[in-house]
This record gives sequence, structure tokens and C-alpha cells, in this order.
Amino acid sequence: MIRIAPSILSADFAHLGDSLDRIATADLVHFDVMDGCFVPNISFGLPVLKAVRNYTDAMLDVHLMIDKPERYIDDFAKAGADLISVHLEADGPRGIRKALDAMERNGVKKAVALRPITSPKAILPYIEELDMVLVMTVEPGFGGQSFMEDQLETIRQVREIIDRYNPSCALEVDGGINDATAPLVVEAGANVLVAGSAVFGDPDPADAIARLRR
Ligand code: DX5
Ligand code: ZN
Repeated sequence: MIRIAPSILSADFAHLGDSLDRIATADLVHFDVMDGCFVPNISFGLPVLKAVRNYTDAMLDVHLMIDKPERYIDDFAKAGADLISVHLEADGPRGIRKALDAMERNGVKKAVALRPITSPKAILPYIEELDMVLVMTVEPGFGGQSFMEDQLETIRQVREIIDRYNPSCALEVDGGINDATAPLVVEAGANVLVAGSAVFGDPDPADAIARLRR
């Protein structure tokens, strides 16, 4: 089953409730947190997540593009995250370990994310405990970028590792997903598709979600 996770980075922040209503048929809501250090952009954080949590029962998929994410796992869990992704480039192995332990303690689903430069093998120390692996198909930091075709090989390699060590682990892709690229990533092994501009830039977001899903 293919699940669709619209990224509210592309939503209309002055009418966030309306934007959430328009994606009511989505499987998850993707929430991009950027700190201006790990990525050259600043988005939104805890107070906005709390407001979204109060507004919707949807599964909240929080993508932390922040340095040393271990510092904030408890806070994001308490603010309403159902699943949290931390970037493997954002800290050393001890920090990543602490972040995953904090997710476990808080009862939040656990994911690690890979920048395009990072080898799929970097997930090997964690794969057996993960609920999801997030493969970036653009350089993290901004919505609306073009899909990086060479990431299809990364997706294939992550799919092999998942099938071998933890077949129930989900494989999410993020960046430049649209009607043209969705079939390519699904063919390569992805089963959760993040889409920002393709969903919120469409006059009919529910239809955009349905098209991406098939
Ligand atoms: C980029 C974010 C993405 C972004 C996707 O750093 O992680 O979630 O919002 O946007 P689109 O779908 O427009 O590429
Ligand atoms: Zn994201």
C-alpha cells in the first residue's frame, strides 16, 4: 500500500486549518522543522505542531532538519508527534542513539533520514529497530526543488536492506515528488511519498493525493 504524506511546508500558513481540511484524505501529515543550521532555512516548530495536533487526529510525521535532534525529541513527542525522523548527518552515533532511545521512551515511531550524499549503509546499525527510513530526493531545506534522479539507486539499496533486516519498516521519500516521479520511486521500492508543492499547488489537493497514490 502506498501512503501519501503532504508536507505542510507548502500550505497557506495564514489558513492552516483550511489547508489541513483540504488534505483530510492523506495518510500522514508531514511536518518539516528547519533550524537555520542543519539546513539554510528556518520553518516552524513546537507551538505550530501543538496547534496542528489540537486541530487534527491525523498521524503527524515530524521531519527534524535540526542539529543534535536528541535535545528536542521529548518536546516534539509531547507536542504531538506520532513519528519522528532524525538525520544521520545531524549528530554522531551517540547522539543518534540517544535520539532513538528518547523516541522509544516517549512511544513515538522511530525513523532516520538520509541526505542525498549519505550512503544507504549508514542505516545498518539501526535498521532492526526502525519504523521508517526517509530518503531525501532533494537537498533538504526548501520545498519546490527538482527531484534528483540518481537517488533512485539509493532508494533501491535502502529497499534491499529493509527487505533483508526489517521488512515491516516503511520507506519514505521526500522532495520533488509529483505525478511524473511518484511511479519511479514506487518502482524503486518507496511506500510513503511526501509531497508539498504537488499537493498544495494543485487546485484540488484531494485529487492530487489520489493521483499520487495509484
Ligand atoms: C525539504 C522538505 C520537504 C519539502 C518537499 O527539505 O523536507 O518535505 O517540503 O517539498 P516538495 O514536495 O515541494 O519538493
Ligand atoms: Zn520533509
